[in-house]
Amino acid sequence: DKGEYRHFMLKEINEQPRVIKATMEGRVTESRVLEQALGTEAGDLLKDVRHVQIIACGTSYHAGMVARYWIEDLAGVPCSVEVASEFRYRKHVIQKDTLFLCISQSGETADTLAALRQAKKAGFRAALAICNVPGSSLVRESDLVIMTQAGPEIGVASTKAFTTQLTALLIFTLALARKNGLSEEREADIVKALHLVPGQVSDVLALDGEIAEISKRFMDKNHALFLGRGSQFPVALEGALKLKEISYIHAEAYPAGELKHGPLALVDSEMPVVTVAPNNSMAEKLKSNLEEVRARGGELFVFADRAADVKPEENTHVVLLPEVHEITAPIVYTVPLQLLSYHVAVLKGTDVDQPRNLAKSVTVE
Ligand code: F6R
Repeated sequence: DKGEYRHFMLKEINEQPRVIKATMEGRVTESRVLEQALGTEAGDLLKDVRHVQIIACGTSYHAGMVARYWIEDLAGVPCSVEVASEFRYRKHVIQKDTLFLCISQSGETADTLAALRQAKKAGFRAALAICNVPGSSLVRESDLVIMTQAGPEIGVASTKAFTTQLTALLIFTLALARKNGLSEEREADIVKALHLVPGQVSDVLALDGEIAEISKRFMDKNHALFLGRGSQFPVALEGALKLKEISYIHAEAYPAGELKHGPLALVDSEMPVVTVAPNNSMAEKLKSNLEEVRARGGELFVFADRAADVKPEENTHVVLLPEVHEITAPIVYTVPLQLLSYHVAVLKGTDVDQPRNLAKSVTVE
């Protein structure tokens, strides 16, 4: 039931404050991740993990890419991320004491399951699943499970599944990091920041009107570029994927530093450039990338933290977001990009909940 909403996608975008909170429930206190957050056997299984291999497809893969930044930053454990359809068809080296982590909303994605089964034969320390569907094949075949509490996701374009995956992945990272020397202070700082996320997402949802207004600038465009740095690069990838899926506008995402290594050649007044630029350590660097785009007549759409001090100028639309912790920023910054693609699709009159050629669950290769 869509309730008051015109589409399931919009309903699901708006459910995010609640489902992110639900995914934290029973897993964190005010300032700590609970030992039992990942189940009773987790303590032993995580103790000697020396490497994390993440496998997923599509949006879930983007969640894995964000997690890599967290795992290496907070836990200091090397982490590799690969799309399942690539992993399963190449020869790979599974290092000793690797935790194999599959991320899947449905838990039935054929490539992800095949990668897991293959890796089991090759031998790894344990399999952890982050999944939204209890009783799915992925859940049944894994040693440890963190269920996201997104509830059923009907819109084919994944929204609330992604932000709850990120929430679960951050909780997992903290549990792993604690075994690898993360200080109590840093853990408390991040857990407190995580508690602020549902409220910050609500604040972003309140910008719906403003985002609907700028979405008009995309209606007659054929291409768009998304830029982000660090853990915001996967957020840019996810923003581009959403725009492609539901509005059929060709969109590509780049790490902002790659702009001058090629894609800058594409930038002109017909190429809108969307940037996610929270006030993290990268904000200053990103500003020079923005200058490069502006100098070529490109129209810029910047989603930035109030404190990032990005000013609206000619051809530059700035949407100010709440101040967020650098670690939790990818969760919050995903939401305005969901809204942007939603509104572009509505304006273009596409079938938002059932985009052409796509299926909700990809159970065949
Ligand atoms: C994009 C989308 C897909 C899925 C992908 C993996 O909006 O929904 O890219 O993320 O098919 O699906 P799951 O997570 O069910 O394995």
